[in-house]
Amino acid sequence: MAKVYVFDHPLIQHKLTYIRDVSTGTKEFRELVDEVSTLMAFEITRDLPLQEVDVNTPVATAKSKVLAGKKLGIIPILRAGLGMVDGILKLIPAAKVGHVGLYRDPKTLQPVEYYVKLPSDIEERELIVVDPMLATGGSAVEAIHSLKKRGAKHIKFMCLIAAPEGVEVVKEAHPDVDIYIAALDEKLNEKGYIVPGLGDAGDRLYGTK
Ligand code: PRP
Ligand code: URA
Repeated sequence: MAKVYVFDHPLIQHKLTYIRDVSTGTKEFRELVDEVSTLMAFEITRDLPLQEVDVNTPVATAKSKVLAGKKLGIIPILRAGLGMVDGILKLIPAAKVGHVGLYRDPKTLQPVEYYVKLPSDIEERELIVVDPMLATGGSAVEAIHSLKKRGAKHIKFMCLIAAPEGVEVVKEAHPDVDIYIAALDEKLNEKGYIVPGLGDAGDRLYGTK
């Protein structure tokens, strides 16, 4: 069964408060999403395998550790997921980036796929699907399904804010995918927005309405 991790690191929680704040403008919102994504990347990479190497220090040879060369992939769900990519790449610059374009139909709330472009070797990669919001769960479920259909085997899902309803939907549809969240909020409203949430992540990142 999928595990759900809520990152309670004080820096993540502090920055998330300002991300939520309606008076935070586009520039600052974008910077904060970038910073929180870096901090979340630090937490999500805790279980990366290491291998021992010898390194010559100025004094002696030390047995030390380096990453064991696991291939990573970051998959933002467009549009809003794009806002998290650079922050993650700061810590794992060699990761490849694939894109899944989905929008949520405002009437049905169902995800509509409009673009998919992935690294050719996704079946060998550990993939981190990123999107600031997990609301009904429809977009995350569809994006993960789209990756699996194309051969992906190892997938994690990372978001800033999730609704309990969306977490359950993803766990049910993809029990092999662990979920990493900065905050688990109270509920969805009648329009499918997370309460209290942060509003429309894409609009706040890109200054649209
Ligand atoms: C938002 C968000 C998620 C989706 C979450 O995207 O970035 O992708 O809604 O909702 P769900 O869990 O109910 O599917 P949106 O559809 O607004 O598209 P955008 O990123 O292009 O603004
Ligand atoms: N998408 C968003 O951007 N915000 C929500 O609260 C729900 C879906």
